[in-house]
Amino acid sequence: MTTSQALDQIRSRILSRYTFLFLKTWEEERWEADLAEVALEIERGLVAWTVTEGPQPPPSPDFVSDGDPLKFLDQIEAYPHEHIFLIKDFHPYLSDPRVVRKLRDLTTRLGEQKKTLLFIGPVVDIPVDLQKEAFEFELPLPGLEELRNELAEALDQIEASGAKPPDVSPEFEEKLLKAVMGLTAREARKALLLSISGREQLDDEVFKALVSEKRHLVQGSDLLEFYDLDEGVKDVGGLEVLKDWLKQRADAFSERAKEQGIPQPKGMLLLGVQGCGKSLTARATARLLSFPLVRLDVANLLSNDRGSSEKNLRSVLRLMETIAPAVLWLDEIEKGFAGGGEGGTDATMARLVGSFLTWMEARKAAVFVVATANSVSGLPPEMLRRGRFDELFFVDLPNYHERQHILSIHLGKRGWKSDKYDLMSLANKSEGYSGAELEQVVVAAMIDAYGQGRVLAQEDLDKARDQLVPLSVTMEEKVFQLREWANSRCRRATSDSRVTQMLEDEQRHAQFLEEEEETKEQWMELAEHGQLNAAIGEYLRRCDAAPFCKIQDDFGAFMTTTGEQGLALRADPNIVLWSGMSQELAELLSSLIAQRRIYLHASGVDVYKELGKAVKLPVLEAMTEDKQPRPVWLPTVLRLLPPEGGSGRFARVARIKLSR
Ligand SMILES: Nc1ncnc2c1ncn2[C@@H]1O[C@H](COP(=O)(O)OP(=O)(O)OP(=O)(O)O)[C@@H](O)[C@H]1O
Ligand SMILES: [Mg+2]
Repeated sequence: MTTSQALDQIRSRILSRYTFLFLKTWEEERWEADLAEVALEIERGLVAWTVTEGPQPPPSPDFVSDGDPLKFLDQIEAYPHEHIFLIKDFHPYLSDPRVVRKLRDLTTRLGEQKKTLLFIGPVVDIPVDLQKEAFEFELPLPGLEELRNELAEALDQIEASGAKPPDVSPEFEEKLLKAVMGLTAREARKALLLSISGREQLDDEVFKALVSEKRHLVQGSDLLEFYDLDEGVKDVGGLEVLKDWLKQRADAFSERAKEQGIPQPKGMLLLGVQGCGKSLTARATARLLSFPLVRLDVANLLSNDRGSSEKNLRSVLRLMETIAPAVLWLDEIEKGFAGGGEGGTDATMARLVGSFLTWMEARKAAVFVVATANSVSGLPPEMLRRGRFDELFFVDLPNYHERQHILSIHLGKRGWKSDKYDLMSLANKSEGYSGAELEQVVVAAMIDAYGQGRVLAQEDLDKARDQLVPLSVTMEEKVFQLREWANSRCRRATSDSRVTQMLEDEQRHAQFLEEEEETKEQWMELAEHGQLNAAIGEYLRRCDAAPFCKIQDDFGAFMTTTGEQGLALRADPNIVLWSGMSQELAELLSSLIAQRRIYLHASGVDVYKELGKAVKLPVLEAMTEDKQPRPVWLPTVLRLLPPEGGSGRFARVARIKLSR
């Protein structure tokens, strides 16, 4: 609601002879002037009352105020008809039964005399006896236009002090105003003054200061925690698809987007492997949007007495709307919301999840929700349904290029020049390391070098990498399962085609790019550069499903694809999938299958017949649990999506050598 809408409502309530209006606000001054205008407009007299000053103007020239509220109420009838009484900070007196009785006695007469009592202040606590006659109203905080005035005043004030005020471009102005939204006019002006005075240039640093002014809003709530915006998108290595997507969403919060009817983004869910930057991305998101970052402690919300947790959730969500625009960060939701939902047994939990989701869909305030999760098994399914979050992202272990990027970020953060080290070889040897582990490698190497009184050397990094056993090795199966689950449901935070783009950029840099190469398909370029894993991925993305013989033909230009080897199911090596492959291709495909990056699907023999290719063995038409007494051929194709119901026996294949 805007200020003018609120005033309209107050005006119409006065005209329809409401006797008691309770107005809740911290900004008495700002509203006093506006309410005086309303009174003038509808031709009502205005009397203001405070305990210190008594009624102004007084009912008669000889009236002596001693701050007694009862004495004042006695005088109300003495004023002429058609008056508004603006009564400040009255709530302490409403616990006095005599005051309440007096107000009730007044009710009818006030209506007849067209008099309205407006109680204004930060606390509204209407006694039960008055509730039928009273109307409660929460006055809105200043909107964009009012804040624009405050900014103008702040700039004037800087100029008046003899300093040169900074230039504020229209886009920047909007960002500044958004950052102080949720503050009172006075707080906003103070915060703006504080953060922009003394600066000639305005940059992102300004927002850090502005946004932290909102910190006090969450004080008093032990479920919400305010975070400083220390990390930006540049601190996040890789995850380019996710970052691009976020940058687009940031634009969608602008006023221009709103005018054009672009819906306000709701939020994203980051699902992924531990230590790969989910929490980091959540923090960087707030910085990118220039919104305050507030973390909701989901586990704590639920550990409270179950009866009060719904009430707590409601009050937390209401508070978020006051702070808005803001980023609401729900870290590790699987730990909190698990067990709820349709299949869950806990009814309170299900209701909680339900009210949260309803809020996600219905809210008007600009609250962008970033939720993170390490596993999906316990998550309520309705949370993952489309339309709740704008996007589900899967954050996988970093690929080669991302590893290089992450290493250079962490070296740079600690003051080391990354071009002094061979990060290519380091990234090459750290397949399976998470972002957190790569950071750990840098830190451990630094400590080691420091202990020996040397500057950080390549050997230190190599040694530290050698000594660290990545979690993905110990938790291999879990990582694979997650990847499999996510493959068909989430968008990948990194796309393999990004690798191509990086390669292209490098090439352009070295002016290698020749005209014809631009028309080449991405998978070919990847294959040409030796990025065979990524090339197979891109290839399958393009053609959806491919029989083995087709891959052999198409990749023949980039590697040896034919030879003596074949693939069979590890569970039963008599079930042969394909033969006549080179060792290189057989290794490549079997490792991609084992990593759940590509999947086998039973296809039937026709796909192969059409191409005139076959394995010279009896055909097994469908997958079976029975052990085969002698070698058979099970025709399959490769796809990017896992088969319905999981990959099961198809998840592990063995390389074999068939005697011809
Ligand atoms: N992609 C990345 N780029 C740069 N640093 C990273 C990246 N991923 C992880 N890190 C480093 O590792 C630390 C831990 O990562 P973060 O807490 O974001 O992981 P997470 O995905 O939330 O893990 P968890 O599931 O364990 O909560 C980060 O603070 C950062 O220093
Ligand atoms: Mg985390």
